[in-house]
Amino acid sequence: MKYLTFAMVLFASAAAAQDSTPFAQQPYKTGGEVPLIGLSEVMAISQMRHIKLWQAAKAENWPLASYEADKLRDSLYRAANFYVNIPVPLVKSADEPLSAIQDAAKRRDLRAFEKAFGDLTTSCNACHQAAGLEFIRMRTPSASPFSDQDFAPVKKTR
Ligand code: HEC
Repeated sequence: MKYLTFAMVLFASAAAAQDSTPFAQQPYKTGGEVPLIGLSEVMAISQMRHIKLWQAAKAENWPLASYEADKLRDSLYRAANFYVNIPVPLVKSADEPLSAIQDAAKRRDLRAFEKAFGDLTTSCNACHQAAGLEFIRMRTPSASPFSDQDFAPVKKTR
């Protein structure tokens, strides 16, 4: 009886850990282990970076913009690695604007950045639509909730 209860608890927790969202159903090749972080958590972090990326570029803090673009790319790769049924072309279509953003940051080109950022946001939404999550609509941020971070570029003293 003790063992049966134990098995039931195990089964129930495994079922709870299974995400019912399309693309998020299948954990990565870990032999059925539940990943330490879920896809929605990776996405929530991506959302944060999407805002920080915009904020950094607006402040013309190009090293920070480049850093955030890099971290956002890591997050999307992490999503693709964790969830085998995330369509790779949709991840790639988010990756291309991130490369354009890196280029723009290198050239300190705000206009090119804005164009690439628009493309990035479109690619976020394209995947949400493909996943049947058209109600998760990203757009260009209008303000930053990160009042504890100074986005201004570091002034060189010499
Ligand atoms: C390749 C597909 C794909 C791409 C690209 C993608 N997403 Fe997602 N996103 C998802 C899926 C699938 C979910 C639902 C995850 C879940 O509920 O388990 C999601 C959920 C979210 C959520 C809701 C998370 C929450 O907890 O509220 C946000 C916010 C989000 N994505 C932001 C973004 C941003 C910003 C980008 C672009 C920089 C992006 N996503 C790109 C597939 C994608």
